[in-house]
Amino acid sequence: MPIMEKETGRATVGQALPKVPLPPLKQTLDTYLKCVQHLVKEEQFKKTKAIAEKFGAPGGVGEVLQKKLLERRDKTTNWIYDYWLEDMYLNNRLALPVNSSPVMVFPKQTFRDQKDALRFAARLVRGVLDYKALIDARALPVDFARGQLAGTPLCMEQYYRIFNSYRYPGLKTDTLKVQMKAASSAPEHIIVACKNQFFVLDVVANSKQLNETEILSQLEKIMKMSENAEERLPPLGVLTSDGRTEWAQARDALTKDQTNRDSLALMESCMCVLCLDEPCGLEARDTTRAVLMLHGGGREKNGANRWYDKSMQFVVGMDGVCGVVCDHSPFEGIVMVQLSEYLMKYITGSPCKMARASSIRDPPPPKRLLWKCNPHIQGLLAASGDRLQRLVDNLDMDVLNFNVYGKDLIKKLKMSPDAFIQVALQLAFYKCNKRLVSTYESASIRRFQDGRVDNIRSATPEALAFVMSMTDERGTFTDSEQMKRLRDAINAQTNYTIAAITGMAIDNHLLGLLRIAKEFNMEKPEIFSDETYSSSNQFILSTSQVTTTVEMFCCYGPVVPNGYGACYNPQSDHIIFCVSSFWENTGTSSAVFVKALNESLLEIRDLCNRSSAAATKPAASGQGASLPYKSGK
Ligand code: COA
Repeated sequence: MPIMEKETGRATVGQALPKVPLPPLKQTLDTYLKCVQHLVKEEQFKKTKAIAEKFGAPGGVGEVLQKKLLERRDKTTNWIYDYWLEDMYLNNRLALPVNSSPVMVFPKQTFRDQKDALRFAARLVRGVLDYKALIDARALPVDFARGQLAGTPLCMEQYYRIFNSYRYPGLKTDTLKVQMKAASSAPEHIIVACKNQFFVLDVVANSKQLNETEILSQLEKIMKMSENAEERLPPLGVLTSDGRTEWAQARDALTKDQTNRDSLALMESCMCVLCLDEPCGLEARDTTRAVLMLHGGGREKNGANRWYDKSMQFVVGMDGVCGVVCDHSPFEGIVMVQLSEYLMKYITGSPCKMARASSIRDPPPPKRLLWKCNPHIQGLLAASGDRLQRLVDNLDMDVLNFNVYGKDLIKKLKMSPDAFIQVALQLAFYKCNKRLVSTYESASIRRFQDGRVDNIRSATPEALAFVMSMTDERGTFTDSEQMKRLRDAINAQTNYTIAAITGMAIDNHLLGLLRIAKEFNMEKPEIFSDETYSSSNQFILSTSQVTTTVEMFCCYGPVVPNGYGACYNPQSDHIIFCVSSFWENTGTSSAVFVKALNESLLEIRDLCNRSSAAATKPAASGQGASLPYKSGK
């Protein structure tokens, strides 16, 4: 339970955060109907409305379930946590790379040679150890909310899962295990992946942590050992890139052998994985670095030089392609950002911590993880490699660095930058498809105990009215009408955001009602077997704001085969967008979406410009009322 003390800003004994609230049933049902009305056919909506009204009627099933949820809220720290974790991650059978694991992409590093790259890696590991020490001492300063409703303390629990979590694949559902042992008994090793081999790097020798020079020397030994072709073992890591059920089956086959069991135990208890990647021979543009971080480039590149079950994987490519890959189940992107920023500052900002030769010990050489593979397992490895390759070939990614303006300009317009960007994304989608679709925007609910996220459904009716006015071919809408619709859309989005971050969104609540019915062996309520409910949970547009204060960006893949992932990083004078989709779906194209997004951002800016020029016309011109003009991408 997150307990905090205001004066010191440290996670310690003090005032507990409130529990996630449970919204009133009627409020959720009304919002649900409002969210779906303009996205489904009229006939379908009538049906849905009747079903929702019956569900919510006095004495109806909804009331019974709401009562059970209220009891659950009383009894648990966070009534939605387990349901949400299972639904969002653990029950999902798709492969983790691209489909689930978000990544941070570091700026391209320039390494003079391999030793230089290993020096960077050694420093990164040292930074990880320092950060872990802060976590173990519970000494991380408490985060406070920024942006909307700024200033409230946020739950820090996600940080305490960074280095001690492991996601076990299961035949039906995965299991996230979090070791909450005392820091002193926690394992003190990391796993280093190099040329698809895995090595145990003990970070403690004679009860003392290794310094940077010692870590470097261990990494050099690992590099050398990995080059020994005779000792090379099959690329076991590729199994973890497979669908979760396939990986669970393969893991069952592996565990029949004691050697494999021992290796898995070391893997599953490590702090994190460090992936020393081979150069890829590709031009290191933003888009290329993003895809390499998402899937490692497939079988022929670094696709098997990973272990996706582990929460934190740090990637150091010998060609300077570096970043972080996370399993999403233990924490949100914000935690990955905070740690990544800490590491980048640590690596670039602090003086070199190379120890004097006299103080260097010679710890025992790192050990290679051994695997026993029979022909059956060899066959599974080949099949996993094929499936990974298909995922790699399927990913259509486009990173847009929109540098015409950023959030400063939007703030000057007295609009919420996040809401503005969401409305621009809706306009872009409408330009491409002539319709809006169910959209997901993650909203943090860390203001509450163990809070993770809920969903801001950004395809609001007001957004639809706005995008229709902007794309109306007859040109029937005046600037002031479009401007009014823009403001309405932004207000609707902002209001939904505030509702979501204060625990009043609908997705978690509806999921809770569905799950509690199942828990009590009740018949599945009609509202959840209704077509509208399933289509409203197909998030064709899956978006998330992940802001950084250090130069780097986050990205992830689409969550449905016919969808887009759109992660954005608003900065004061530019915005980075990472748009992903799948080539196999002929209805999507990241390049087309990015082009439409670029146009949308320019058109909205132009509209605001014309409106503010019109508003200031009577006054003397040339007062700098209009907004900066630069052409787009
Ligand atoms: N006029 C002028 N300025 C405004 C404004 C207005 N009308 N509305 C907002 N602003 C300012 C804010 O004060 C804030 O200022 P700051 O930069 O000094 O902090 C800034 O604009 C940004 O606010 P806004 O764009 O409204 O959004 P936000 O920062 O509150 O973010 C969410 C909204 C939903 C993204 C955020 O609440 C959230 O939940 N973030 C986490 C998302 C997440 O979980 N991502 C990872 C998923 S893995």
